[in-house]
Amino acid sequence: MDTKKLLYCVLCYFLLSLLSGQRVVQGHIAPHHHHHHHSHRHHLFKSGGLSKLFVFGDSYADTGNTNKSMSSWNDPYGITFPGKPAGRFSDGRVLTDYVAKSMGIRSPIPYRWRELGIPLLIYGMNFAYGGMGVFPTLNPGPNMTTQIDFFENLITDNVFNISDLHSSLTLVTLAGNDYFAYIVNNGTQGLESFIPKVVTQLTVNLKRIHGLGAKKIAVTALQPLGCLPRSTATSSFQQCDETENSLVNYHNLLLKQAVAKLNNETNDSAFVIVDLYASFMSVIQNKGEKEGSIKFENPLKPCCVGISSNYSCGSVDESGAKKYTLCEDKESAFFWDSVHPTQEGWLAVYAALQATLEQLF
Ligand SMILES: *[C@@H]1O[C@H](CO)[C@@H](O)[C@H](O)[C@H]1NC(C)=O
Ligand SMILES: *[C@@H]1O[C@H](CO)[C@@H](O)[C@H](O)[C@H]1NC(C)=O
Ligand SMILES: *[C@@H]1O[C@H](CO)[C@@H](O)[C@H](O)[C@H]1NC(C)=O
Ligand SMILES: *[C@@H]1O[C@H](CO)[C@@H](O)[C@H](O)[C@H]1NC(C)=O
Ligand SMILES: *[C@@H]1O[C@H](CO)[C@@H](O)[C@H](O)[C@H]1NC(C)=O
Ligand SMILES: *[C@@H]1O[C@H](CO)[C@@H](O)[C@H](O)[C@H]1NC(C)=O
Ligand SMILES: *[C@@H]1O[C@H](CO)[C@@H](O)[C@H](O)[C@H]1NC(C)=O
Repeated sequence: MDTKKLLYCVLCYFLLSLLSGQRVVQGHIAPHHHHHHHSHRHHLFKSGGLSKLFVFGDSYADTGNTNKSMSSWNDPYGITFPGKPAGRFSDGRVLTDYVAKSMGIRSPIPYRWRELGIPLLIYGMNFAYGGMGVFPTLNPGPNMTTQIDFFENLITDNVFNISDLHSSLTLVTLAGNDYFAYIVNNGTQGLESFIPKVVTQLTVNLKRIHGLGAKKIAVTALQPLGCLPRSTATSSFQQCDETENSLVNYHNLLLKQAVAKLNNETNDSAFVIVDLYASFMSVIQNKGEKEGSIKFENPLKPCCVGISSNYSCGSVDESGAKKYTLCEDKESAFFWDSVHPTQEGWLAVYAALQATLEQLF
């Protein structure tokens, strides 16, 4: 083996363990037995032959696509899983991981690691990039159109074929980056007329994914943006911003109509809405209790918070000193940072979503 090959192997091993905390044994990924204490709450669905998961969207789904310029690669992201920062915008697992679990498969590898080889492609691929939307956002990176371009190129190259697509589930997340960008650039004026544009572009993207051969496509309804810590900070995390939530409801209404229309036009009921609004609300209002034994004392209060408004979770100053505080018990926090749930938060959301996910299988 020449040095270059050896280096490549070492790099692969390193990337793999970094990627998912999964142990690599003799070229196979050894099962990891995490979450024993939660296993009584998990009921794996029969995935009805759906053996691959393809994912498009943003930080609610990204499992490591963004480069190290994003906060998800800083401490303390990833401290619960995989144990160090690895690109997930949480302390641990995110929506993608739980959807994969519900299918009885491993979380698909991020697109970024596509060169690592065929054996890792059997669970599909995750094309989601944190910070992205359907239109340009505040972050550089591939928008949803470009993410689908990546997918289409892999189909053209026969990395994935039509039978892979037929036996796959596609998850599409859109968690509000288009709206955050709009508000930063333009304020809230005209936001109401921007909402139909976002939903229309999202619909174009969904149609395109279906056109490529995907038979089951799950798209997230917008979560209650007004309940995110970034919005509730002004009330010391006591109250959701109802004005923002009513705009979210408008987005979700339009999405519902668009999805109904898509299902009518395509006649194979390919599209299902994953209602993050209802599931977040259910967890927030019931402090997680309804969905299991989880208990979030104040579900609106995030675990990881910048020490002042100039800093966010993961910030350090020039000397490397932490400019954020961490809660003592991550498992009692629903939100991780100002936008994203904790692993425990996602687990509760996932529990609330089980009925929807079951429809897909
Ligand atoms: C997505 O990004 C590509 C590449 O930057 C750009 O050409 C395209 O117009 C963008 N699509 C939308 C809908 O903004
Ligand atoms: C990270 O990716 C973005 C968009 O893809 C790019 O603009 C930026 O230069 C990259 N940053 C680093 C440090 O690689
Ligand atoms: C599609 O690819 C899978 C591997 O992912 C392979 O098992 C299958 O035979 C291929 N099917 C066709 C029709 O090429
Ligand atoms: C802000 O408004 C301008 C003009 O109305 C529009 O072209 C632009 O796309 C808006 N910005 C965002 C982020 O949507
Ligand atoms: C689909 O739409 C057409 C025309 O709008 C309508 O006549 C038909 O009943 C719809 N079909 C379903 C299954 O909703
Ligand atoms: C609707 O379903 C029928 C029967 O399954 C199929 O032949 C037809 O092509 C479908 N139409 C569209 C628009 O997909
Ligand atoms: C935040 O940053 C601004 C501008 O950099 C500065 O003027 C302000 O004093 C900072 N505020 C705090 C609380 O550190």
